[in-house]
Amino acid sequence: MKILMVCLGNICRSPLAEGILRDKARKMGVEITVDSAGTAAYHTGERPDRRSQEVAKKHGIDISSQRARQFTRSDFEEFDGIFVMDSSNYDNVISLASSPEEAKKVEYILNMIYPGKDLPIPDPYYGGNDGFENVFKMLDDSCEKIIEKVKSNGLEGS
Ligand code: 4NP
Repeated sequence: MKILMVCLGNICRSPLAEGILRDKARKMGVEITVDSAGTAAYHTGERPDRRSQEVAKKHGIDISSQRARQFTRSDFEEFDGIFVMDSSNYDNVISLASSPEEAKKVEYILNMIYPGKDLPIPDPYYGGNDGFENVFKMLDDSCEKIIEKVKSNGLEGS
C-alpha cells in the first residue's frame, strides 16, 4: 500500500501528514509507503517549514530530511491512496486525473474522521505557532484512522 499526502506548497501540512503516518505505521508494524507532494512548485527542493519541523519534533517525529516536490500525473499510477488537505488541493489534483479510477483515489484527509464533510485542514503558513499545533492534532487523528483502515480492510470505501 502506497499513500501520498498532498497540500499546496509541500512544506507545512503534507510533510507533517507524511511524518505522522510513517511514524504510526512503524510503531504499529503496518507495511506502507508514505510520501508527500504539493500542487504548486514554489518550494521544490526545500525542507519543511521550520514551524512544521518544530511541532513534529515536539511530538517525537523528525521530518527534517523531507524535501518538497510537485505533484505529477504519474503519482496517480504510483499511489493507491491520495489524501488532500483542502478543496483547492482537491480540485487541482482531480483536474490531473485521467480516469474515474484515478479520481477515486483522491480523498480529503479529514473525511477519515468527519466522513463526507469535505472539511479543510487550514493552511497554517501565514499564521502563528498555534496553527501548526492545531494542524498536527487534526492530522494525527486522521492518520490514526488511516492506519486502522489499512489494517482492517484497506482504504476501500473511505
Ligand atoms: P502548505 O502551506 O500548502 O501546507 O505547504 C503553504 C506553504 C507555502 C505557501 C502556501 C501554503 N506559499 O504560498 O508559498
